[in-house]
Amino acid sequence: MQAKRIILGIESSCDDTAAALVRAQPGLPVGEILCSEVFRQDDLHADFGGVVPEIAARAHAERLDLVTEAALGRAGLTLGDVDAIAVTAGPGLIGGVLSGVMFAKGLSAGSGLPLYGVNHLAGHALTPRLLEPIEFPYLMLLVSGGHCQFLSVEGPGSFRRLGGTIDDAPGEAFDKIAKLLGLGQPGGPAVEAEARCGDSKRFNLPRPLLDRPGCDLSFSGLKTAVRRARDQLVETKGGLSRTDRADLCAAFQEAVVDTLAEKTRRACAAFTDAHGPGLLAVAGGVAANGPIRAALEQVAAQAGFGWTAPPLSLCTDNGAMIAWAGAERMATGGPDDLGLSARPRWPLDTKAAPLIGSGKKGAKA
Ligand code: KG4
Ligand code: ZN
Repeated sequence: MQAKRIILGIESSCDDTAAALVRAQPGLPVGEILCSEVFRQDDLHADFGGVVPEIAARAHAERLDLVTEAALGRAGLTLGDVDAIAVTAGPGLIGGVLSGVMFAKGLSAGSGLPLYGVNHLAGHALTPRLLEPIEFPYLMLLVSGGHCQFLSVEGPGSFRRLGGTIDDAPGEAFDKIAKLLGLGQPGGPAVEAEARCGDSKRFNLPRPLLDRPGCDLSFSGLKTAVRRARDQLVETKGGLSRTDRADLCAAFQEAVVDTLAEKTRRACAAFTDAHGPGLLAVAGGVAANGPIRAALEQVAAQAGFGWTAPPLSLCTDNGAMIAWAGAERMATGGPDDLGLSARPRWPLDTKAAPLIGSGKKGAKA
């Protein structure tokens, strides 16, 4: 039996600088997270109502060594205990991805450790296998501030995209609605909290793209509809009451729930046509939303699918998912050399037509 391997995973594609150590045993589908450190940047971007790429890149460059030292320290290890380095090489905000790739190359050149450049989206998509012995294929819905796509995950490097957003990602829409209504960032939790005491039926908001076949989604029209409803209230009443705000949040959230649920139903059907019913997994920050999570779980049950949702710390961006994607790659191929480049776009499914959207957190692949 081959020895277990310890992989250092490094992530810096958006606004989280992260490093983690994962122990993986070749041939075993489950890994062990020795430690996972995330330095968030919310405070740096709060005043701008969204991630500022230049600020993010600079912060990554300043913090990558610190977060890596913190991860090694917390795990009680040194670089000498590590067997390989995995780093996000795309897709994402190019300055941040570059910072991570350059840092990982330096570590690799200095230590002689093999370097694996991995796809950030593959990191999210393979996370269920880090935690549970899950066989390929399975269906993944990735819903975050930067991503929204349905993937048939068919192997460590084999993904089929069944659909995705053509404009905003859902988390991005939550953030923009929060900004429109004067709520704090990140918008998802703020809108969800307001929605709890709101009447979702007061405003009649659209369910975009439900009239079109397939699993593609769109959230920018919904955002515009909320803006119009808000503007109308401001014009007629001179401002928004607490109830207005709660009702708008509830109506918006319900529209997102309905849209995601229906498109997930269709994705389950498409997956079933190809493979029979399987497992539905979710990842991404939006999977933290109670009503969204409950609706997806119900859709999975109705479609005869199993259901899994990683804990929130592994749904959002982290280094453990990158280390694990590196471990999956190590099992199937050799390392990269120092020519590894950072890629702003890097679709998982190279055969699928590109989606048009490009959100605040970088190009969607
Ligand atoms: O995965 P993530 O940490 O970062 C990336 O976007 O890659 O996701 C963050 C996004 C933000 O847009 C945030 O508003 C959203 O996830 N989010 C939520 C909730 N918690 C976080 N959206 C809806 N409901 C929530 N409870
Ligand atoms: Zn992500």
